[in-house]
Amino acid sequence: MTAPRIAVVGCGYLGAVHAAGMASLGLDTVGIDVDAARVATLQAGSAPFFEPGLDAMLRAGIDGGTLRFQADAAGVEADVWFVCVGTPQQPGSDAADLTFVDAAIAGLLPALREGMLVVGKSTVPVGTAERLAALVEPTGARLAWNPEFLREGLAVTDTLAPDRLVYGVRDGDDAAVAALDEVYASILARDTPRIVTDFATAELVKVSANAFLATKISFINAIAEVAEHAGADVVQLADAIGIDARIGRRFLGAGIGFGGGCLPKDIRAFRARSIEIGAPEALGLLDEVDRINQRRRDRMVELVERELTALGGGAVAMLGLAFKPDSDDVRDSAALDVAMRLAERHDVVAYDPQAAAPAARRAPQLRIVDALDDALAGAAVVALGTEWREFRELDPIDVATRTSARVVVDGRNALDRDAWTAAGFRVVAIGRPD
Ligand code: UGA
Repeated sequence: MTAPRIAVVGCGYLGAVHAAGMASLGLDTVGIDVDAARVATLQAGSAPFFEPGLDAMLRAGIDGGTLRFQADAAGVEADVWFVCVGTPQQPGSDAADLTFVDAAIAGLLPALREGMLVVGKSTVPVGTAERLAALVEPTGARLAWNPEFLREGLAVTDTLAPDRLVYGVRDGDDAAVAALDEVYASILARDTPRIVTDFATAELVKVSANAFLATKISFINAIAEVAEHAGADVVQLADAIGIDARIGRRFLGAGIGFGGGCLPKDIRAFRARSIEIGAPEALGLLDEVDRINQRRRDRMVELVERELTALGGGAVAMLGLAFKPDSDDVRDSAALDVAMRLAERHDVVAYDPQAAAPAARRAPQLRIVDALDDALAGAAVVALGTEWREFRELDPIDVATRTSARVVVDGRNALDRDAWTAAGFRVVAIGRPD
């Protein structure tokens, strides 16, 4: 049996990593994206965003002859067509915008033939696959829904060694399952769990996973709010409850909350879709999850302002702008949001190891510097927004020689409080007594 030839439509975050991943599994892969500049960057073997390990994987695929990128589907001969385009939040609504998915499918239809498989990977509202299947199936091709669970910053590992593979297929579509098994043969050979289900369940698995993660974060952040009023310590509390394997310590990191291109928009779209399909009460808790998440940003602003007021004013050094470490993504970033809100009323100097350029595009009014010392130098208060390793590993004794600030507001509970206190800093944290 010859190995399936792969096309990946949409080379944003998901698609670029998926295309490089498929090529690294030895499959002949073409990445297709309408953005010519993005195609040129990828074809030159570099990622258009910061993702550890991705440049190397792209170069290996391109140099090894298994990977190429182009701006349209012309001349592409593929057996399996992955759809990896974005599904952002619609402006002025909570629902997902399916324009790119619809355009991708419409663009593919002329190329589809009997025996081909279209595989949706984008995060979509439940019911989308069923609707798209009605367009794809008359061509003789099949549709499957195969959601992706990769995390930014760990995208390469998550693509090559996922926790599980989920295939949503039409009832009894053994050919679609067999084709996906061929694509993922080397991943399945390592006993990766594989769940075969229907379209709707596959779509819901994805959004339920993200909704659960968001809920877990907001749960601990709600407890952080209570802890602040009770004089209790949410970090110790999370350690203690997290020991229970039924709860687990991961995603109990209290702080300024979740951001990024997935969790915030996915919980809103999930809630909106549940209302549309007649279950208006089912996911009301996700509205609360969103509200708790927004309140933690407010709290960070409040804490920094409280400290500035106590000091009689001064500048803020904002450490971190990305929505999480090891990423230059600033979409719905809590750190960037806090920095922008503080900058409306105070002198803020921000530094991020990777996200300076994307943050500057989104917030041109924000003063962003290229070196940590330039942010620290004139600061009265240091505020940690993203827990980059570079910040977690700072030696507070050394930092004390680089800034006259003696107050740190830790928005991620990421700093060693005892060490910073011993070095002469007042450490203010989310959900912990001062
Ligand atoms: C998330 C999911 O974790 C992936 O499984 C999923 O595939 C992806 O969305 C997607 O739908 O594409 P990602 O957005 O890369 O991945 O980031 P996460 O690692 O989930 O972090 C999300 C946010 O939660 C970050 O802002 C992070 O700082 C915050 N967070 C995370 C906390 O505030 N506390 C925690 O304990 C953990």
